[in-house]
Amino acid sequence: MLCACCFYLTFAPHHLILLRVMAQIKADLLILGSGIAGLTLAIKTARHFKDKQILVLTKTVEGESNTRYAQGGVAAVWDTATDNYEKHIADTLDAGAGLCKADVVRIVVEEGPERVREIIEWGARFDKEKNSSDYDLAREGGHSEHRILHYKDLTGWEMQRTLMEEAARYPNIRVLEHYFALDLITQHHLGRLVIRVTPGIECYGCYALNKQNGEIDTLLARATVVCTGGGGQVYKATTNPVIATGDGVAMVYRAKGRVENMEFMQFHPTSLYNPVGENPSFLISEAVRGYGGILKTADGEEFMQHYDPRASLAPRDIVARAIDSEMKKRGTDCMYLDCRHLEKEGFVAHFPTIYEKCVSIGIDPMKDLIPVVPACHYMCGGIMTDANGQTSIERLYAAGECASTGLHGANRLASNSLLEAMVFAHRIFAHLEDQLDVLDIRNDIPDWNAEGTTDPKEMVLITQSVRELKEIMSYYVGIVRSNVRLKRAMDRLFLLYQETEELYKTTSISPQLMELRNLITIAYLITRSATHRRESRGLHFTTDYPELLSFVEHTVL
Ligand code: FAD
Ligand code: SIN
Repeated sequence: MLCACCFYLTFAPHHLILLRVMAQIKADLLILGSGIAGLTLAIKTARHFKDKQILVLTKTVEGESNTRYAQGGVAAVWDTATDNYEKHIADTLDAGAGLCKADVVRIVVEEGPERVREIIEWGARFDKEKNSSDYDLAREGGHSEHRILHYKDLTGWEMQRTLMEEAARYPNIRVLEHYFALDLITQHHLGRLVIRVTPGIECYGCYALNKQNGEIDTLLARATVVCTGGGGQVYKATTNPVIATGDGVAMVYRAKGRVENMEFMQFHPTSLYNPVGENPSFLISEAVRGYGGILKTADGEEFMQHYDPRASLAPRDIVARAIDSEMKKRGTDCMYLDCRHLEKEGFVAHFPTIYEKCVSIGIDPMKDLIPVVPACHYMCGGIMTDANGQTSIERLYAAGECASTGLHGANRLASNSLLEAMVFAHRIFAHLEDQLDVLDIRNDIPDWNAEGTTDPKEMVLITQSVRELKEIMSYYVGIVRSNVRLKRAMDRLFLLYQETEELYKTTSISPQLMELRNLITIAYLITRSATHRRESRGLHFTTDYPELLSFVEHTVL
C-alpha cells in the first residue's frame, strides 16, 4: 500500500505506446520558455551558431511570462565609486541565510554587469538620472547599496520587449506559441526502467500539446533547456501570472531528475490588498520602500523596527513574516505602506503603473495609506543544476526561476533573479559550444499515445481541485508552518493526487489538467521539503523548530 509521503513513486507511464502518427519536429536546441532565460539563451546560441536551429516553446504567447511583470529591476554592481562585488556578494549571502553556494554567488555577481551591458546593447532602456548619462540606481530590501537598474516600474516589460525584438532578428530561432510541454523524453520512453538513482539518464526532447489543433507532437533535440519559470500559482495569493504553474520542475521530477530546496517559496511582503481579490495579485515593488515608502499599521505607527534594524528595508523573509505576524496579532486583513510624505512628481515618474493601479481602486498614494499583504512571489529552489546550468539528467539544462543554481539559498535577494537568468543563459550557451556538434538527435522515439482517453466532460472537477490545492497550500504551507499543518497538507494532497491521476488516465490531455498535475507535484515537493527541514531558516519558518540549526544542508528530492 502507498503512504502519502511516497506517493510520487507511482507515476504511471500509460500514454506511451506507439499508435497515432503525430508531428515530429527536430531542432538542434530545444528551449522550453520564452522569458528572460529562454530568449537570452536562444539569442546567444543563434548568433554564434548560424547553422543551428533553435526551437523555443511557449505555452501562451511569446510575451507572457513572469519576466514581463518584473517591476523593481536588475541588481548589478554598476557605480564602482560606491559599490563593489564583495558588497553585492555579502548581501546575497546574508539574505540566503547560510544556504547559498558561495562560488555561484561570486560567478553571478561578477559576470552580471557584462550581461546587463549586453542587453543594453540589444536595446534595453534603463532610467538615467535627471540631466545625466548615469543610470538612476535604486535600492531594495537587503541591499547595502543603490545597485538596481530599472525602467520606471516596468523593467521586466522592457527587458521582455528587447529580447523579443532581438530574437526576431535571427532566422534560425523559431518560436512556437501555444505549445504546452507535457513531459520530457528519456530512455524511459524507449522502454527502459528509469528510477531516480539510474545513472546516465538522458533527455532527447519533450512531448508537447499543440493547443491550436489539440495534437501532441514529439519535439526532438540534441539538448533541451528548461526555462519555464516559477510556480507561484500553487498559492491563493500570488504575484505570478497564471502561467506560473511550475511545469518545468514537475516535468523534471517526473523524468526522475533532482529537485532541491523547494521549501523556500518567497512571499513578497507588499502585494496590493484588493478586497475584491484578483489573480495575480498586483505587486507594490520593494523599490517603493527603497524610494522612501514606510510600512505602518492602520493607525499610522511604524512597526518594522521591532523586527529588524533595517526596518522597512530588511530582507523579504523578515518583512513578510513581520507583516504576517502583525496581521495575526491585530486580526486585520492587511498592513499599510505610507508614501504620503513623498513628492508626487518623482513618485509618479518612478512608479507610474503602481500609481495608476492604486488610483484605479480608489487609493491615492499621495493622500492614502496603501493597503498591502504578503503574496507568493518566487520559487528559490527548483531543478538542481551545476554552475553550467546542467541538471542531474544528461543533455538537459535549466535556467531562470525554475532552476536551483545555488545563488539564492534559503531566500533570494531582491532583483537578483533577472540577473541570474541572464548569467546562466550565457553559461549554458558557453557550455553547449562544445556539445551541440557532438550530440545526436534520436530517431527512435515513439509518438505519444492517447488511446483509451476521452474528452473531459466535467471541467469543474479540475477547476475545483485547483481551488482546493491553493487553499491547502495557503493555510498549511504558507509563511508560518508546523508539523501538524504540514502533515495535514500532505494527507489532503494525497487525496487530490489520487483523484487527479485517475482523471489523467481516462481523460484526454488538456493544459488545465496538466497544470493541475504539475501544481500538485509542486505542492508535494514544497510540503515534503518543508517536512524534512527541522529548523527555521530563511523563508522556511516552523513553530516546531523556531531556531536555526548549525548544520546546514540542501533538501534534495
Ligand atoms: P518566465 O519569465 O516566467 O518565463 C517562463 C516561460 O516558460 C514562459 O514563456 C511560459 O510560457 C513558458 N512555459 C511555462 N510552462 C510551460 C510549458 N509547460 N510549456 C511551454 N512553455 C512553458 N525579479 C527581479 O530580478 N527583479 C524584479 O524586479 C522582479 N520583479 C518581479 C515582479 C513580479 C510581479 C514577478 C511575478 C516577478 C518578479 N521578479 C523579479 C522575478 C522574475 O521576474 C522572474 O523570476 C523571472 O522573470 C523568471 O524568468 P524566467 O525566464 O525563468 O521565466
Ligand atoms: C520588486 O519590485 O519588489 C520585485 C523585485 C524582485 O522580485 O526581485
